[in-house]
Amino acid sequence: MEGPRQGAGERLILALETSCDETAAALVTEDGRILANVVSSQAELHARYGGVVPEVASRRHLELVTPVLREALAEAGASLDDVERVAVTRGPGLIGALLVGLSAAKSLAWARHLSLVPVDHLHGHVASLFLEPDPVEPPFLCLLASGGHTLLLDVPEHGRFRVRGTTLDDAAGEAFDKGARLLGLGYPGGAEIDLLAREGDPDAFDFPVARVPGLDFSFSGLKTALLYKVRELGPSELERLRPDLAASYQRAIVRALVERTQAAAEQTRAERIAVVGGVAANSELREALPGAALAPLELCTDNAAMIASAARYVQEIPFPRYLALDAYASSAA
Ligand code: KG4
Ligand code: ZN
Repeated sequence: MEGPRQGAGERLILALETSCDETAAALVTEDGRILANVVSSQAELHARYGGVVPEVASRRHLELVTPVLREALAEAGASLDDVERVAVTRGPGLIGALLVGLSAAKSLAWARHLSLVPVDHLHGHVASLFLEPDPVEPPFLCLLASGGHTLLLDVPEHGRFRVRGTTLDDAAGEAFDKGARLLGLGYPGGAEIDLLAREGDPDAFDFPVARVPGLDFSFSGLKTALLYKVRELGPSELERLRPDLAASYQRAIVRALVERTQAAAEQTRAERIAVVGGVAANSELREALPGAALAPLELCTDNAAMIASAARYVQEIPFPRYLALDAYASSAA
């Protein structure tokens, strides 16, 4: 005989995330317990192009959104009757990809007469820290490093932040991905460099750490330095020194992130540092900031549990006022 359904009787937040190349659905309780967190990555689909192709991503989201949602409900042992509100990423991200999730969320909410909670993807990454079993309480200074953003944020309370620093060119994750491509590694490149760097010498090459004024970041010079080094070495030396190049390149990115984060913490007199976003999965970065609150590994890269978490601190839009709601590709800030 079946036991009682896990999610039954609880009022749940159902969240969808489709801002880039992950199709994700999650069910989370009001007090931040994750009952299901399903992520279907399209990385393999985009790998042959060396990066995400927006139109391909949108079409794949369309195919995956229903099965991923069904899987999340099954995993939570819940049905749509248990869902109290529907949360969805509204932006920033790839507009076509976002619209797939937003349309799906609106349809679901409308069909069930539920309210809709539009969530900003960056607030979602920060809210990956607010989930059980070890929620991190604000205030803290947050480094958000992903494929699309590198931000230093003052987080005074749940659902609010102030930008203290940003990247002037590439995001840290983008630097990892572009570097991996130059080294002939797969996509997405961050995890690949992370693995290979363990076999290499981080002091073998001296890559530049940009020190632009204020609390901002710059990674384009680093990427160019790697490009020149790869050209200079030629194919056979590249083959031989690839682990050293990966280790030295990673060291430069991590050093830049750590230096600026520590400077920002001093300036803002932050007592606590937190790190979120895809690059927060990097093993060297995780070790380089002792005492920092780190997003749980499985919640660093894009997922819907963090969107549900953020939704708890956002004003919901009651049925049926959300039908005309639009997505946005870049942050208003
Ligand atoms: O947060 P995320 O899933 O998507 C965006 O919102 O952009 O971040 C994806 C980024 C990619 O650039 C990927 O290479 C990077 O996170 N990443 C890593 C690692 N795992 C993922 N970067 C460094 N080390 C890792 N272990
Ligand atoms: Zn993200």
